[in-house]
Amino acid sequence: MKKLFGSLIVLAGVLVLGACGNSSANNTDSSSNTASADNQLEAIKSAGVINVATSADFAPFEFHALIDGKDQIVGADIDLVNEIADQLGVTVNILDLDFNAVLTALQQGKADIAVSGISATEERKQTFDFTDNYFTPEQKLVINKDNASAYTSIDSFASKKVGAQKGSIQESIVQSQFADSQLVSIAKVPNLINELKQGSIDGLVLESAVADSYVAQNDDLMVTDIALEVSADDSYAIALPKGSTELQAELNRILKELDENGTISEYVQKNTDLANENAAQ
Ligand code: ARG
Repeated sequence: MKKLFGSLIVLAGVLVLGACGNSSANNTDSSSNTASADNQLEAIKSAGVINVATSADFAPFEFHALIDGKDQIVGADIDLVNEIADQLGVTVNILDLDFNAVLTALQQGKADIAVSGISATEERKQTFDFTDNYFTPEQKLVINKDNASAYTSIDSFASKKVGAQKGSIQESIVQSQFADSQLVSIAKVPNLINELKQGSIDGLVLESAVADSYVAQNDDLMVTDIALEVSADDSYAIALPKGSTELQAELNRILKELDENGTISEYVQKNTDLANENAAQ
């Protein structure tokens, strides 16, 4: 009896601790999101860590690379996150997820911010706050070099399979701009690249810097000059829980500084080179 009572006290203690942790950094109760989001910035600072959701399958923005023999997550977004963490005086904890789970993790309070080449679309803005944009991509179509003469227009993809990453805006681009093609959605970009190389899909929609990076790593692929429509919604921004006013202002201040002094372009260039060197190893 005494023993049972003892373990109940321990259990109660664990529950109380759990509840405290919850109300500080990670808010899992979406109904009180707004109440705590006002001091989201302070919560991150006092926790001493920023939890970042990403999908590290997207060179040069976030990808896995072997550095000094060790697998590491690197990229322009990761450099950006490290700079943000430095300025806030906290460390970084990366959650590496499939892209279609990144925004869900943010919504569930498992991450403080999501940085993953995320296009700040009107639809996503209904659920999340976003910082100012930090990169504007173009939409590109990647094919096998062998098919260069067959695929010269959107029409030449009629009844062909066109790939896009699951949960990305490229899915709707294929659906709206390739009305006569079949959309094939796959969770990870490197798997889409493999499907394309094997010929199980005929084309793949990717954003400019990303298309260039994977084509540079794969001699048998090329970026076509078929023009795809772009939208103001395509630009990348950092996603935040709704109502994170102070955090949003602080991140916008940092982004402005890094944009104006050319640091963001440097991050993209440096990581494009890093992705190429890594692929060549
Ligand atoms: N910009 C596109 C979107 O937001 C694709 C982003 C994919 N990001 C990634 N890390 N795989 O839908």
